[in-house]
Amino acid sequence: MDNRYLQGNFAPVTDEVTAFDLPVSGTIPDHLDGRYLRIGPNPRLDGPGAVDPDGYHWFIGAGMAHGLRIADGSARWYRNRWVRPEGDELAPNTNIVQHGGRTMALVEAGSPPYELTDELETVGRCGFAGDLAAGYTAHPHEDPTTGELHALSYSWTRGNRVDYSVLDTAGRLRHQVEVEVHGSPMMHDFALTEHYVVIYDLPVTFDIDMVAGKMPRPLRLPARLALNRVIGRNPLPDALVGAMARGNGAPSQLPYSWDDDYPARIGLLPREGNSADVRWFEIDPCYVFHTLNAYEDGDEVVIDAVRHERMFATEFTGPYEGLSSLVRFTVDTVAGKVREHRYDEHAQEFPRHDERLTGQRHRFGWSVGLDGPAPGDSVLKHDVVGATTLARPLGAGKEVGEFCFVPHADDAAEDSGVVMGYVHDRVTGLSDLVLLDAETLEDVAAVHLPVRVPAGFHGNWAPTAS
Ligand SMILES: [Fe+2]
Repeated sequence: MDNRYLQGNFAPVTDEVTAFDLPVSGTIPDHLDGRYLRIGPNPRLDGPGAVDPDGYHWFIGAGMAHGLRIADGSARWYRNRWVRPEGDELAPNTNIVQHGGRTMALVEAGSPPYELTDELETVGRCGFAGDLAAGYTAHPHEDPTTGELHALSYSWTRGNRVDYSVLDTAGRLRHQVEVEVHGSPMMHDFALTEHYVVIYDLPVTFDIDMVAGKMPRPLRLPARLALNRVIGRNPLPDALVGAMARGNGAPSQLPYSWDDDYPARIGLLPREGNSADVRWFEIDPCYVFHTLNAYEDGDEVVIDAVRHERMFATEFTGPYEGLSSLVRFTVDTVAGKVREHRYDEHAQEFPRHDERLTGQRHRFGWSVGLDGPAPGDSVLKHDVVGATTLARPLGAGKEVGEFCFVPHADDAAEDSGVVMGYVHDRVTGLSDLVLLDAETLEDVAAVHLPVRVPAGFHGNWAPTAS
């Protein structure tokens, strides 16, 4: 077995742990009162639901949530818990957010959002899940001016239809509209601006052969390509969906791959508009998992995002087709064109911004520097106005996960705060929650865990309700 996504710190942990009063180096700012939540795949390697180690894709491991409670300058507890879904649903593994006072575990294109308790025990499907069209997103964006949660969701069962939805501050579905895209793309993230929902319609698309356990698209016959294109534009019949879902239990492969024939487009959906109102703008072929932030500047829409040359074209166990970079897409809505600017040479992923500025003009962003496929080895701070990038390597033998920004106060300046995330030490086999000064990237504090937190996906600060 040589699947790198089951080795080293990608390997799952076997135990659910509860640890109290954790040792801290440095000083945790007194005003931090909440939980640092993070989630990732933690597949079972034997027994019921065990994954096939050869075909296992990092994106399809059953989700485990990790939480660290911080208050009064101390680290009161750490807990890790599997998300326990109903029936055969995949345990959400991609993002964990707090909205409307609820902790939600999220995955895209399949299982609905699951609610967890403050101590990470699974409550069940979120109440609004029954109102959604199939699937939800792992990357909803909260509008800081209204507190509403915006999402762009897709499911391979829905052909070329995706859904834009808005949850109100109580977590009820306020708005949902269906949008037609070119085919059946993987749509991991989107962006929000003052007036628009920014849609990435890009060439990683549903590949029925991967569901059927056959060779992925790049290796198969042209006739299969044609069939896939038909399927990609039409909702699948319920009987077929049922048969595919029953298959061999949880899918062992991610059913998406690169499609050279698929156009790459950015769409602008007016927030209160419908499918017919979307304006589409062609860009060079690429894939985008994550937006840093986006905003409007006169007749232009500015989108900072991490761009991959291609995705799932030759590598089918995880997201790596070469180095990815931070770029700015500038959509000129008058000329109908998109300009693309690459910021610098750093390979990176997991871009984040100060979420008080979602959809509004930002100056700073933070991401994880990579020297190959994830995990990373450094934290980067970008000043997109000054056109500079500050890099903070975390040291030899250290593996860096996503870092998120937490301001020092509601009215603090844009980079006045901390960034926090897990750092794994290959020598000790343990992990720390590391807090860096968001302005300088110098050490603020580290919480030392008695265990390791496997390399995973997204984490967020969930402040205690006041
Ligand atoms: Fe993501």
